[in-house]
Amino acid sequence: MIERQVDAIIGLQMGDEGKGRFAHQLAANYPMVARFNGGANAGHTFSHNGREVNTHQIPSGITHEGVVNLITISSYVDPKALLEEANGLWEIGIPVSGRNLKVSDGANLVLPHHIMRDNIRELSKDGQGSTGRGISFVGSDKYERIGVTLNDFINDPQLVKSRVIEGIDGVNRSLDELFVSVMEDDDLEDSNREQLLENICNAVGVANLEWASWKEATGEIRAYETDTFEFIHEALGKGQTLLAEGAQSSGLDIEHGMRPETTSSHVTIGGALSSIGVGPRAIGEVYGVAKLPKSRVGGTPESFPTRITDEEIAARIRGNAGDIDGEYGKSTGRERMVGWLDLPELRRSVLVNEVTQLVFTKLDCIPRAGDYTQVATHFVGEDGQPVEIAPNFVSKVRKMKPEYEQLPTWEEDISGVRRFDELPENAKAYLEFIKSQLGVEITMVGVGPESEQFIDMRVAT
Ligand code: IMP
Repeated sequence: MIERQVDAIIGLQMGDEGKGRFAHQLAANYPMVARFNGGANAGHTFSHNGREVNTHQIPSGITHEGVVNLITISSYVDPKALLEEANGLWEIGIPVSGRNLKVSDGANLVLPHHIMRDNIRELSKDGQGSTGRGISFVGSDKYERIGVTLNDFINDPQLVKSRVIEGIDGVNRSLDELFVSVMEDDDLEDSNREQLLENICNAVGVANLEWASWKEATGEIRAYETDTFEFIHEALGKGQTLLAEGAQSSGLDIEHGMRPETTSSHVTIGGALSSIGVGPRAIGEVYGVAKLPKSRVGGTPESFPTRITDEEIAARIRGNAGDIDGEYGKSTGRERMVGWLDLPELRRSVLVNEVTQLVFTKLDCIPRAGDYTQVATHFVGEDGQPVEIAPNFVSKVRKMKPEYEQLPTWEEDISGVRRFDELPENAKAYLEFIKSQLGVEITMVGVGPESEQFIDMRVAT
């Protein structure tokens, strides 16, 4: 029987917690690492042999020799972006081949028209602040059961062709509708209207060209095609272990996230079980990662109750666009909103994932706020009652107000600290406070972007 052979690392906020570097670090201890959700909308950044590595679809175990990296069945695979990512890794000396990368034959493929429709919608009033990677459209095709997989590409090319023709039709219809709505929108300034119309015209006719390069890229990623369920079970049966590497985060989960401002996949531990194809007894540790100054890209301010509205403080916390720890989206370069730690959100995520180990990133950045930092301990509802666990609807949370505890920061540079007992007293008190509020042990705390810049709380206390 498979028992406790699968550990998972999952984000507890709205993405961008910096889980990539801990996933990369943990990955070295497992023969298999699996990305189980999302697609090219994700961006993980970590430092490997002193250089910054950005991954999107490929698990972060790819840098470790001998680790098999799997993209399992619930992921959305963008063939062109995957090839580019693999080539980019080769260029910096990280080999990627069918030996160390396996892509599920049943994962839904992102087709060019998914990306085009996503971008068309982002141009319109219905834009959702998506990453523009076609995720919601590939997701809706999957659940409409009209999607395309690598298995279809290999075994049913006629089906793929007809799906693509229908898809291109859909793009053209969306463009027509958008064109008319922009023409008829009296609220638009003329210069904006012209720009939008130009963007729409540029998109017309691109679909057919995109299709040819998609086909070529998909032909190439056949090298990675695998029944990941079978592969994983064979290895688990021999006693091997696996790290499930989450992309996005619980707060973006299609069901348990801050609806409707979510992504289109199952991000939680439940999603990991389903995508990998194991039952709950297979799960051992669940590492839940949160960033101490919280951040989010995309989405509205209403979905971020602890957002810092003082732009001066926010800018200090955000840092510089070019820095590895700068708060800018890794997939899109967009500036992130930043805010105070939100404990009601973390309580929800700890419960939904049954987190056994808490991992925090960016403790070193806390003093950027000034002499004090704030932590939202609970919300207060319209009825004046305290709310300990965040709701999963923007329409509910916007009626609540966060209540803060103010905690003193510290002046010392802690980026060189490796033991809990060497931290300044205020930093220790800050971590103790969070631990007591969440009731889960903290096991690792990041004090800088480099992989060795962390405190392992299990050995340091
Ligand atoms: P989509 O997943 O591209 O459709 O975007 C839906 C929402 O999820 C947007 O608010 C995105 O900014 C957000 N999102 C998707 N992937 C990530 C991620 O990896 N990190 C942070 N936010 C993400």
